[in-house]
Amino acid sequence: MWITRYRRPHPLAWRIVALALIAAATVTASGSGEDGGANPDRGAFVVAGYLPEWRYEGADWDATCAHVTHLILFSMEVTEDAKLTASDRFPHAHLDAIKAASMKHHCELVISIGGNKRTGGFPTVAKDKALTRKLARTLLFFVKQHGLHGVDFNWEYPNGKEEWRGLHRMLKITRRVFDRHRDETGERLTVSTTYYPDGRQEKILADFGAAEHVDMAHAMAYDFGPGGHSTMELAENVIANMERLGLNKSIATLGLPFYGRSKWQSGWRTYEDLASEHPSLGTNGGGDEDPSGEYSFNGLDTIAEKVRLAKTAGLRGVMIWELGQDFHPGDGRSLLGAIAREVWPEGRTKRLVRDEL
Ligand SMILES: *[C@@H]1O[C@H](CO)[C@@H](O)[C@H](O)[C@H]1NC(C)=O
Repeated sequence: MWITRYRRPHPLAWRIVALALIAAATVTASGSGEDGGANPDRGAFVVAGYLPEWRYEGADWDATCAHVTHLILFSMEVTEDAKLTASDRFPHAHLDAIKAASMKHHCELVISIGGNKRTGGFPTVAKDKALTRKLARTLLFFVKQHGLHGVDFNWEYPNGKEEWRGLHRMLKITRRVFDRHRDETGERLTVSTTYYPDGRQEKILADFGAAEHVDMAHAMAYDFGPGGHSTMELAENVIANMERLGLNKSIATLGLPFYGRSKWQSGWRTYEDLASEHPSLGTNGGGDEDPSGEYSFNGLDTIAEKVRLAKTAGLRGVMIWELGQDFHPGDGRSLLGAIAREVWPEGRTKRLVRDEL
């Protein structure tokens, strides 16, 4: 997920269109969770979607939150003295709308720290216990100040054993600071981390016991190659690796790409662009390649099949990079719409209510 994260907004990127949402998603329940979080259904299957800052302008927050359990705002950075920076990438101007949508749909708001080329401060902070504690307190303060529900660590990637140990300690201390806050207020905040499922990082995370401190570990199951960058076979291997290497599946999510990659060069294109240009791709399950055979992506059928796979395998859920590369979720061609239909076949809220009875 290198190039995809740093491109400027594409002209065809997700615009607000006046489409009706799927009926079930518009029904809402009231009241907050017993643990004080936004999502009263904590044990349920997770749909966690990243939205990078270049998509904030024009985003339909209500429709987005209706289709995800966790909206991950991407991203801010940490400085070498454990302060948060890149505040201009936080959606201050949209916060009221985002929070209203979050409450209405019980969707948790998570701030992501890091990302490729955004991780400069991590090594310095992670090797120092006092700085790590300072960062954890800073994160708690930031999350509370803005009415968010958690933090996502996206260090790409720790280099060497000391840095991995540092990441582990960072997760552990953040969890501890958040737990103390829970004991004082009853509000439980989420901690997640990302990893590249190459068969090596699973083992490191498992050996460190990272699962004890995070609610979710997001497997970035894309950008592999050659050939299709995020095939069904890759998804199966990623899950097999969790089992083989001892990464607790009940905290792992399967990452799903909303973009295609060229098989011949380094280029990539959004699913929305590809399916707009080739209408056949957005209907009847679509396909996983554009007509020229250059771009491989996950079409409607593959996305739905991966969701089923994640459910059957007992994963925590699925993760999406990134929501702004799709059609509006009310559009029949939307990948996020396909995910929601698979996860909540009877509608999201009805299911919540039934689970609560
Ligand atoms: C996996 O994680 C879940 C949720 O945190 C926990 O309940 C379970 O005991 C863990 N399983 C193992 C084998 O550690």
